[in-house]
Amino acid sequence: MPSPTAEEHPHHEKLTQYLREEITTAGGEISFDRFMELALYAPGLGYYTSGKPKFGKQGDFITAPELGPLFARCLARPCQSLLAELGGGDILEAGAGSGVLAADLLLELESLDHLPQRYFILELSADLRARQTETIKRQAPHLFERMGWLTKLPGNFRGLVLANELLDAMPVTRFKVTETDINELYVGWENEHFVWREKPAGVSVRVRVEPLELAAGYISEINLRAEAWVRSIADVLKQGAMLLIDYGFPHAEFYHPQRARGTLMCHYKHHAHDDPLRLVGLQDITTHVDFSALAEAGTGAGFTLAGYTSQAAFLLDCGLEQIMAASDPDDIRTHMELTRQIKKLTLPHEMGELYKVIAFGRNMREPLPGFTLQDRRGRL
Ligand SMILES: C[S@@+](CC[C@H](N)C(=O)[O-])C[C@H]1O[C@@H](n2cnc3c(N)ncnc32)[C@H](O)[C@@H]1O
Repeated sequence: MPSPTAEEHPHHEKLTQYLREEITTAGGEISFDRFMELALYAPGLGYYTSGKPKFGKQGDFITAPELGPLFARCLARPCQSLLAELGGGDILEAGAGSGVLAADLLLELESLDHLPQRYFILELSADLRARQTETIKRQAPHLFERMGWLTKLPGNFRGLVLANELLDAMPVTRFKVTETDINELYVGWENEHFVWREKPAGVSVRVRVEPLELAAGYISEINLRAEAWVRSIADVLKQGAMLLIDYGFPHAEFYHPQRARGTLMCHYKHHAHDDPLRLVGLQDITTHVDFSALAEAGTGAGFTLAGYTSQAAFLLDCGLEQIMAASDPDDIRTHMELTRQIKKLTLPHEMGELYKVIAFGRNMREPLPGFTLQDRRGRL
């Protein structure tokens, strides 16, 4: 694993100090959920809120939209279908990273003659909002007037809500099953290091963990914020759909007896490890998504579960093959580049199988493209 550079140290130290003060004020420890929230989103200091490069080769990890425009071109199909059925409507992308998906999607929808009336981005990080503005101004300046940035959800919304790798970046509650009890994991400070602490879990965690009947020693996560977020979208989405793309599994796989250390991962300069108490502010902290929990949250809040499938099946159903077929094989460079993106997005050992797409609908007649090739709703 690469060591932090001299330029990275001051940022790491500042956030460490900020977290230590929070721990002291709280009486010696803070919940892991709060630790993760500050490590990622403390204003100006967190991993996502400081100016550090995150995405792509210069950063720590790569996401589907960062690979190239193919992902966005496929996503344009369900957008087009939905906007056509509504006879208009807006797109709201949550957690838009560098803004490249917004730019590529708008350009593709323009070529399909199905631009949304407005394209809103809901983004927590002020630094990323600035980068997204730059990306759109650079890549699709003539469409910039359609853009709008939000820091909270609108009162009501008609159209498509979209998020790629948003929920995996939300702070989670971490728990540990002991011989006699269920504990929640906390973080303290001892001998100049962050250390794990445990306390008996509260009711909201207990009611979720007890039925799982997990063995003593089992550690995992519950993403209560992701579930609350899905419910909050259900409150405002009056007509339309929501597409969420992320890595994860249904409940039974998420809490599989063999997954006894949970799903939490950290990424630093393309190296992955599982210790979130190191390199604070410099590394991404992420967990997989429990798609059954999302489905339950969404349907409980009045959404219809409109689809659930692997990313590979979704993209193939959204016209991946047609896009490939339309590319000129004599243009070797473009053809090779397209092949590279297709492999990365769809091969089972790359993003094709671990990444899933879940769709929720409200007051829609037509099924969304993307889910006819393989319907996995029954597995949730
Ligand atoms: C892992 S990045 C994914 C970025 C982008 N969607 C992509 O695929 O490249 C997570 C993004 O979600 C944002 N984010 C996290 N929690 C959020 C929330 N509650 N509301 C809006 N944005 C959020 C982060 O600031 C960041 O832009």
